Amino acid sequence: MPADSVAGASEPSIGTILFTPDQIRDRLTELAAQIDDDYRGQDLVLLGVLKGAMMVMADLSRLLTHDRVVIDWITVSSYGDSTRSSGVIRMMKEPDLDLAGRNVLLVDDITDSGLTLSWLIGHLQARGAASVEVLSLLRKPDLAKVEVPLRYLGFDIPPDFVAGYGMDYAQRYRNLPYIAVLNF
Ligand code: IMP
Ligand code: MG
Repeated sequence: MPADSVAGASEPSIGTILFTPDQIRDRLTELAAQIDDDYRGQDLVLLGVLKGAMMVMADLSRLLTHDRVVIDWITVSSYGDSTRSSGVIRMMKEPDLDLAGRNVLLVDDITDSGLTLSWLIGHLQARGAASVEVLSLLRKPDLAKVEVPLRYLGFDIPPDFVAGYGMDYAQRYRNLPYIAVLNF
């Protein structure tokens, strides 16, 4: 069995498309304008949470006009290959940069329980970041276990499992240019 398949799992199918590429781009354009305003004249580190934030980061960063943006990545794992949070956050890769004294904007794909982002905020504050703010493209308010202060939010969505635009199920579907509900 390949490492990216799920024991005993049924093969999901792609269901309702929640957001088209145009809708995603339009919302990111609005958020990028806010970020440009908010960080004008300041340093800014966009810290993407791999792997889910790959598309948001690529598109958002190209919409910014801020001319001192630095990009870095952090890798954490909170989901196994299932649709439920393991509740345990594993640090897989720390940022390369020393974030002490810097303005960090965490860029993530989706806030579900909120556990990953709230853990990450604490982690980055402990490393001495001057400020830590969060952008999440999606949020499932009904599933929140902890409240994450999202300075920038793309869209609220129902508690369905979604994939595409960086988001996966068992490492698949990340390459879809739209965001869809997966039916199991
Ligand atoms: P949380 O810790 O429960 O907020 O979720 C953390 C991570 O789980 C998110 O950053 C995503 O990478 C992943 N995740 C949560 N919900 C979904 C989903 O519906 N589809 C794909 N990935 C998800
Ligand atoms: Mg994520």
